[in-house]
Amino acid sequence: MPLPEIVRHETGYQLLVDGKPTILLGGQVRNSSTSHAEYTDRVFRKAGSLNYNFVIGAVSWSEFEPEEGVFDFHLLEEQLKSARANKLRLALIWFGAFKNATGTYAPSWVRKDSTRFPRAQISVDSNSAIKNSRANPVLSVFSEALCQADTRAFEALMSYLSEHDPNHTVVMVQVENEVGLLGAARDYSPEAEAAWLEHGSDWPTEEAFMAWGFASYCERLAKAGKRIKALPMFVNAWLGPQPGQTKPGDWPSGGPSTNVLEVWKATAPSIDILCPDIYVPESHSFMAIYHREDNPLFIPESRHKAADVAWALGEHHALGYSVFGAEDGRVGNKLSELYGVLIEADSVISQAQRDGRIWAVLPSQGAEKSSRIIGDTTVTAVDAFAALERFVEHAGVDLNLRRPEPASELENLPVAIDSATEFGPFGLVIQESPSEFLLIGQGVNLVFESARQTVEIDYVQEGKFTSNTWVKGRTLNGDERLNQVPLFEIGCARIRVLTL
Ligand code: DGJ
Repeated sequence: MPLPEIVRHETGYQLLVDGKPTILLGGQVRNSSTSHAEYTDRVFRKAGSLNYNFVIGAVSWSEFEPEEGVFDFHLLEEQLKSARANKLRLALIWFGAFKNATGTYAPSWVRKDSTRFPRAQISVDSNSAIKNSRANPVLSVFSEALCQADTRAFEALMSYLSEHDPNHTVVMVQVENEVGLLGAARDYSPEAEAAWLEHGSDWPTEEAFMAWGFASYCERLAKAGKRIKALPMFVNAWLGPQPGQTKPGDWPSGGPSTNVLEVWKATAPSIDILCPDIYVPESHSFMAIYHREDNPLFIPESRHKAADVAWALGEHHALGYSVFGAEDGRVGNKLSELYGVLIEADSVISQAQRDGRIWAVLPSQGAEKSSRIIGDTTVTAVDAFAALERFVEHAGVDLNLRRPEPASELENLPVAIDSATEFGPFGLVIQESPSEFLLIGQGVNLVFESARQTVEIDYVQEGKFTSNTWVKGRTLNGDERLNQVPLFEIGCARIRVLTL
């Protein structure tokens, strides 16, 4: 089997798995889920019932190399076995020395030896109270010994994959997790001070200097790992600055956050993707920032927001989308309903991304997010429920129309933030030929208008994709033309227009 690969073409990027364009749709398991074989299996089985085609699992350095030079592969082996049994691809996070701006995944033998593996300092005073009162250890990214030890362990992981994963169940690897330094713009440890003296003047800000430090560190791991098995590699960002944050250190300084993407790109060429972890309401803005000519969009962590999946795929040609907390999804939720439909059409979507024939629609958010001009014709997505309400009102009948009661996307809610099932209108449109459009979504109707010609809908054909082949359903006419796709469920329709 060919290696999974991210290929670049004139209009963007595609992920090839088994040589075929693929879109990864799934979720990331919680941090500790892969530390126990049976637990892992339970979560992966659930991911299968949520229609995921991939999960993001993790390998923790502390469990992988409990003693220096002694590696324990059994948890990794279990993840591979369980992913295969559940027909899932895997992306693996390497929880090495850095996890959310701390070092809690570094093995005890690393954390115990602060002479060999020095701690970061967030003030010039090495005995500062802030430093000593920290609950979580924070290692210095400027430590050569740390980088060497972390790289050796990462190489052991990649060697295992190279020898034991010939069919590439693991398709991508995340290097470290949400790196950066909290509490100060830069590290003041003796190692950091030495680097600052030598390289500080190369960088316009302390944050850029830290970004260079973290990017150089991750580059060394990624480069060494790719030499063994050249899988696509990515890093993820704890987003910043966020509202109210004024200085680096309020968000992790030096992580791949918005101010320093250029530094990361220049310093870490072996990292294929800089990814945003999106938990903020302004998801569209962050997608736009991370989708760049030199950076495909891939979202490794996010909330359960089905409309955002459509937005990422349609507007930003995302290679994949993953929610955080795979074990928390409610079976039958909106996200899994959408994933189920999209996964069967993944090559169709990927090809449309490549050709620039796909876009997302969100009629509730105004003309800009619902209309496209194709030649002489404006294609507008309208809110089908709102249109139905108007229609019924004009007809003077009282049908007591209501959107469904809010449900939750999650079960076992640890924190109930923003997890309401979306029943509003959203979708994806793919232009299949000059006169044919595919609509995937809910509560959306497409309207076609032209100032120069008469454009009318020729037919609406319900259907679905099975392994990327269109399977025809009913022809929708008469009353059924009022809803091209279901109001509150994900559906697909092929719409042909007639131009006079
Ligand atoms: C972001 C981190 O990257 C994840 O590992 C996880 O801790 C989530 N936050 C949410 O808890």
